[in-house]
Amino acid sequence: MIIAVDGPVAAGKGTLARRIAEKYGFHYLDTGALYRAVGLLMLKEGQDLSDVEAAANMAARVGEVSPEDPGLREESTGGAASIVANNSEVRAALLQYQRNFAHRKPGTVLDGRDIGTVVCPEAEVKLFITATAEIRARRRFDELIAKGNSVSYHDILADLKIRDARDQGRTTAPLKKAIDAHLLDTSKLDIEAALNAASVLIDNRLG
Ligand code: CDP
Ligand code: CDP
Repeated sequence: MIIAVDGPVAAGKGTLARRIAEKYGFHYLDTGALYRAVGLLMLKEGQDLSDVEAAANMAARVGEVSPEDPGLREESTGGAASIVANNSEVRAALLQYQRNFAHRKPGTVLDGRDIGTVVCPEAEVKLFITATAEIRARRRFDELIAKGNSVSYHDILADLKIRDARDQGRTTAPLKKAIDAHLLDTSKLDIEAALNAASVLIDNRLG
């Protein structure tokens, strides 16, 4: 079984996807981390983010970035990721790895922007996670403050809106709800409630 979890910045995709994977014993892939790794390599090597060829070369080197690299979770890396994610060569270079991962047994959960639409249109369960921009910005703010970063709520809200617009507006694999995805608005749901709602849909498919 493949479970696709898509949605805008800080909607709670990763947290929910991890909990689903834990509960059902499935493998989890954070596809945003792949784009973040490309963005981080570009920043570290001082490359121009709009350099299509340089970004495509970096996509072959994502394995060099440790999943523990603290730079991965910074908002500047998220912004860089969303710029390189607009590059169709970068997307093509990362696609096969995601598709191979998706077919691991006994099942997988992938979170990102285009899992239900492009990476795994065949996914048995598709979730599109949303929440208001203000609530998402507050969650990301709390998360970064808890990690000791000094950030401003207003900057986070502004960056989040820019990133969402860029992700929705690109021509290749834009952020959008697949027609057959279930919309889950977590504005008023805590993590347990979101997991319960997702579990009902998954259990239905598992039979
Ligand atoms: O992966 P994505 O960027 O969509 O979001 P996340 O990193 O999973 O979640 C952002 C923050 O919101 C985390 O600190 C979560 O604990 C929190 N949160 C959530 O994920 N889901 C809720 N229903 C409520 C809060
Ligand atoms: O966790 P957060 O919502 O901040 O972002 P992320 O999931 O780590 O993704 C970072 C950026 O990578 C996004 O803003 C997208 O531009 C890009 N991305 C993408 O284009 N396609 C995916 N499947 C996953 C991420």
